[in-house]
Amino acid sequence: MLDIIIVVLIIFTIMIVVNGRIKSIVPDRDGSVVARSEHIDTHITVFESYVMSSGDVNGNGWEDVIGLESIKDDLMLNVVHPMASPDKYNGLSGPPRGVLLSGPPGTGKTLIARAMAVEANSSFMYITAAQISSKWIGEGEKSIEALFWVARKHAPCIIFLDEVESIFPTFGGNNYEAHALTNCFKACLDGFSRDTGRPVVVIAATNNEDLIDHAIMSRLDMKIRLSCPDMTTIVPYMIRRECNLNRVTVKLSDVDLLRSIDDPGNDDVRTAEANIASKMRRLIRDGITVWGPEAT
Ligand SMILES: Nc1ncnc2c1ncn2[C@@H]1O[C@H](COP(=O)(O)OP(=O)(O)OP(=O)(O)O)[C@@H](O)[C@H]1O
Ligand SMILES: [Mg+2]
Repeated sequence: MLDIIIVVLIIFTIMIVVNGRIKSIVPDRDGSVVARSEHIDTHITVFESYVMSSGDVNGNGWEDVIGLESIKDDLMLNVVHPMASPDKYNGLSGPPRGVLLSGPPGTGKTLIARAMAVEANSSFMYITAAQISSKWIGEGEKSIEALFWVARKHAPCIIFLDEVESIFPTFGGNNYEAHALTNCFKACLDGFSRDTGRPVVVIAATNNEDLIDHAIMSRLDMKIRLSCPDMTTIVPYMIRRECNLNRVTVKLSDVDLLRSIDDPGNDDVRTAEANIASKMRRLIRDGITVWGPEAT
């Protein structure tokens, strides 16, 4: 009889371990405790190395973002304030589960996500498909669990999913592993977003929202479409930034500078920046005094 009880106990223990149900209690950074499954330990160690504090995120917040004033106001109201003050914004007034930033390459998706982390004084995790998909069955789900576990531990935290369409593609339905990954992500997102005291917000970026899994799309509560600001906004801003960086003044007025840039058609800020740089080189080559003395 004792033998049978021992065998049953051993089988029961093995089942618990295999299912990853043994929870360990780990002290959190604010001294409280968060339970987790031990089966994701190795993934946790990996994701811990991706966490950046708002100070590590290189930038000055909204100051770095040219134009897009109404988008910045919207994100400030709906995401930044609720993340920064979870004690005031709880329940329904807590931050959205997810934000989708869509737009052509070079329209500031990554820049805006980083700026939000600075403004909200939150941690930041930059995640691509390579970090969460796996060729081993079940490993992708574990990494998603670990990702949310780590994000919650470092809350308030922004999980930035770059090129989200390659992490959760629409055609994932035919592929067991992609389907399991999407389901796990949905469950984690729904579960963690209930805890508004420890805000974790997913910011997803894409160049093509038609390619994103529909269930993931529906959970990205805020959808923001970005386009390139016009040259009258970009040129003066870039010149001022250049002056501050190099501690110089600029001789030409904003109007002269704009006039000197004869081809204002740009789809993205990267191209605009390259065009402005090229036009400035031409002005300098033609003997026009662009830069003045060192700023005091
Ligand atoms: N609104 C903006 N204000 C200031 N700089 C910008 C703005 N939009 C883009 N940039 C600048 O353009 C470059 C590209 O921006 P960013 O990497 O954020 O674009 P992206 O939308 O994430 O592009 P991709 O789809 O290629 O990842 C960066 O140097 C960034 O600082
Ligand atoms: Mg980007």
